[in-house]
Amino acid sequence: MEKRLKGKVALVTGSGGRIGPGVVRRLAAEGAAVAVTDLSPEAAEALAAGVTAQGGRAFAAALDVTDSAQAAAVFEAAERALGPLDILVNNAGLLKYAAPFQQTADADWRKILDVNLNGTIICCKLALGGMIARKRGKIINLASIAGVSGLPGWADYAAAKGGVIAFSRTIAMEAGRHGVTVNCVSPGMILGSDPAENNGTWLGRSGTPEEIAAMIAFLASPEADYITGCNYLVDGGRTVGPKGASWEY
Ligand SMILES: NC(=O)c1ccc[n+]([C@@H]2O[C@H](COP(=O)([O-])OP(=O)(O)OC[C@H]3O[C@@H](n4cnc5c(N)ncnc54)[C@H](O)[C@@H]3O)[C@@H](O)[C@H]2O)c1
Repeated sequence: MEKRLKGKVALVTGSGGRIGPGVVRRLAAEGAAVAVTDLSPEAAEALAAGVTAQGGRAFAAALDVTDSAQAAAVFEAAERALGPLDILVNNAGLLKYAAPFQQTADADWRKILDVNLNGTIICCKLALGGMIARKRGKIINLASIAGVSGLPGWADYAAAKGGVIAFSRTIAMEAGRHGVTVNCVSPGMILGSDPAENNGTWLGRSGTPEEIAAMIAFLASPEADYITGCNYLVDGGRTVGPKGASWEY
């Protein structure tokens, strides 16, 4: 694989879920040293061990992105271990049970906003200072098609992801003149590495973590140096338009 990220240092949050491991492996395969973080220290350590077993450089830490003090300590430790941060992937996310919004407990919608939106803001703030001072950096925030089109049953999640998109566009405007780019990737339905049939998409299948990781790696690479403030929908065409009576044409 081409080493577009050789010599770069990346930090990935929420690495232990469905999409995170694919992202960590792809960034490492392209030559980046990766700070692998997750709520679960075991998940982070196992992934980091996989990277080092492949000859890469990795650092593992437990990180709850809603805890600013812990996040500050982890960012500092990661930079001490691997060097100054070039790439931040805010991948940590949380989805709760589906329910009409009026039935959602206050503590639950607050938690969804806290992890998905505040967690992204906390980590962006920690990365931005150093990136701006060094005049280089790439931030990639995981949003969702829910943040663009809405998602019945998950209004709080849609609000948080819509907030991530608006926040990212705005800091892209602020940080651009300092050489820092900020973009979002909005996955559609990503189940696992084996795509399942999905007739809500125009490609007729769900996506894979590797397909999301490919977009993230591109945005982290020098090939995307002139791209900022964008939100890439990687969703098999799910948001292009509904399938109507004439869909066969
Ligand atoms: N999988 C999809 O279909 C899909 C679709 C749209 C958007 N997304 C977004 O992509 C990202 C990754 O999705 P996924 O499918 O891998 O999710 P997932 O639920 O499989 O994994 C999320 C990871 O985030 C971690 N996490 C949860 N709360 C955290 C916290 N407070 N601090 C740090 N880490 C925390 C979990 O431990 C887990 O490892 C998320 O931001 C998600 O919202 C996913």
